[in-house]
Amino acid sequence: MTKNSEGTFEIQNPYQPLLAKVVKITNEVDGARAIKTYKLVFQDEETKINFSFIPGQFVMVSVFGKGESTFAISSSSTQKDYIEISVMKHGKNTAALHELEEGDIVGVRGPYGNTFDVKGWEGKNIILIGGGIGQAPLRSVLNYILDNRDKYGTLDAIYGARTSSDICYKEEFAELEKRDDVNVHLSIDVEEEGWNNYVGFVPNNLMEVKPSSENAIAITCGPPIMIEYVIQNLLKLGFTEKQIYTTLEMRMKCGIGICGRCNIGNLYVCKDGPVFSYEQLKGLQGDM
Ligand SMILES: Cc1cc2nc3c(=O)[nH]c(=O)nc-3n(C[C@H](O)[C@H](O)[C@H](O)COP(=O)(O)OP(=O)(O)OC[C@H]3O[C@@H](n4cnc5c(N)ncnc54)[C@H](O)[C@@H]3O)c2cc1C
Ligand code: FES
Repeated sequence: MTKNSEGTFEIQNPYQPLLAKVVKITNEVDGARAIKTYKLVFQDEETKINFSFIPGQFVMVSVFGKGESTFAISSSSTQKDYIEISVMKHGKNTAALHELEEGDIVGVRGPYGNTFDVKGWEGKNIILIGGGIGQAPLRSVLNYILDNRDKYGTLDAIYGARTSSDICYKEEFAELEKRDDVNVHLSIDVEEEGWNNYVGFVPNNLMEVKPSSENAIAITCGPPIMIEYVIQNLLKLGFTEKQIYTTLEMRMKCGIGICGRCNIGNLYVCKDGPVFSYEQLKGLQGDM
């Protein structure tokens, strides 16, 4: 309940979205599993100024008359005035999102969920390990660190996709490869003419890169099978359960801990997550 300008109280409906304009659409990947990045600007000036989040959080985005779905905020919280989401075409609502044009209006609820502990990780070496559209939440952390570069140690971005055309954020990775304050390690699953980087799965590329576990935090996001092998390999490299983080993508409805759709064990992924350390996840594996 909040007090309005006339001094009376209003009950806020948690399901009522804020209106945001799609100001830019970037085609990241074409084809059946197409990915697009949407830059969204809140219509209400006060919301535009006051909306804040921390990398790791997500929003519920609706296309009116079609549906609502969950997306990690893929921009960094250091970028003010707008947020970005990257959407892989999947079912009804993501297909509707892919039909949108610049200037269209969507509904946004959030930000929801817990966060990566980007403040607590200051001074640490950061290793980001992503696959496919799983790079979306990692992009938020990556850009946050680049905008606060002197506060962190080394930064490694390990990322893979099935083919070179399936690589999300191609142009951004190309720019990152030119920098000397971030080490980019790209991979594709199968050999392709003209590809000069690693060929093989992301967990294998991780073993080639062999990051040191000393004073390090590793964050991984991607298909569940990739996450599973990445975690196994991180443990082999000497990372402890407390040094490994991931974010879960359980199906959600309310996003705010009411509907019970997203629970694992006694936790709700929408409000206790989506970010979990491997130490927490290990205890929940039987419930997933
Ligand atoms: C915390 C969180 C962050 C996410 N971040 C992103 C992101 O950054 N980019 C992105 O493209 N997607 C992301 N997703 C997944 C995204 O929410 C789903 O792809 C989307 O809701 C599908 O909606 P739809 O209407 O297109 O599909 P629907 O028509 O609702 O479903 C199509 C099919 O996909 C299945 N499905 C739908 N949602 C999920 C899910 N969450 N997990 C497993 N199966 C599912 C359905 O059961 C059905 O079989 C995220 C999910 C969560 C929970
Ligand atoms: S999505 Fe409703 S409780 Fe998590």
